[in-house]
Amino acid sequence: MSVHGKARKITTQVLRDMKQNNEKIAMLTAYDYSMAKILDRAGIDVMLVGDSASNVMAGNMTTLPITLDQMIYHAQSVVRAAKRALIVVDLPFGSYQGDSKKALESAVRIMKESGAHSIKMEGGKEIKESVERILSAGIPVMAHLGLTPQSIYKFGTYSVRAKEESEALRLKEDALLLEELGCFALVLEKIPASLGKEVSESLSIPTLGIGAGKYTDGQVLVVHDMLGITQDFHPRFLRRYLDLTSEIDGAVKQYINDVRINDFPNESEQY
Ligand code: KIV
Repeated sequence: MSVHGKARKITTQVLRDMKQNNEKIAMLTAYDYSMAKILDRAGIDVMLVGDSASNVMAGNMTTLPITLDQMIYHAQSVVRAAKRALIVVDLPFGSYQGDSKKALESAVRIMKESGAHSIKMEGGKEIKESVERILSAGIPVMAHLGLTPQSIYKFGTYSVRAKEESEALRLKEDALLLEELGCFALVLEKIPASLGKEVSESLSIPTLGIGAGKYTDGQVLVVHDMLGITQDFHPRFLRRYLDLTSEIDGAVKQYINDVRINDFPNESEQY
């Protein structure tokens, strides 16, 4: 909230100011209108239309299958709900790697067709050209380093990245390059907290951590994970704020029972 009690609209500049003022940034994923409306009203700073939609919305094993059209559909739903939060949309796998013209086309489609405010891309110097081309069109880019799930078949595992000095060094170089190119923020996923701290202190753009420790400028979680909708996923970094699976299970069982015993609907619930 601003000093006047009015909700301030979050922009990339506001995020930068928040870093300067040591105000932590709270980001969550969102994929649909109803959930996005709840998150926005609750005061979330950034909503990420993540390609994790491929996992939590569509039930795929990885983020790789989700298409640009599907990302745009999710982004449109989130944009309709947002009054305050900054909306970032993942460029999906295959829509930007290795071809900067295609990357720009993909980013332009997201911005034009969804009304989102920015896009996110995974990778460092290997996607430099694509990042540059997208930024030159005036589209804000959030970068993403560390565990980058679109490269899962290269890594072979979802374990912590950059524990080795050589990978940590590469990550630090990539982070500086991405800031220099003009990215407005950087997601750091599943890296040692000490590295998260070092990178965050070396940059003037904000870092958003997921499994990157407490020293990043903000945190991001997948909303289905922190609400306890997803099951069988218990990484150390995940704090569950709710056990929504149990809540929903209880409510649905109650409904089934009420229907079966003809308790629902009652007199006041009919016309
Ligand atoms: O797609 C996603 O949910 C993400 C977050 C894990 C940062 O990229």
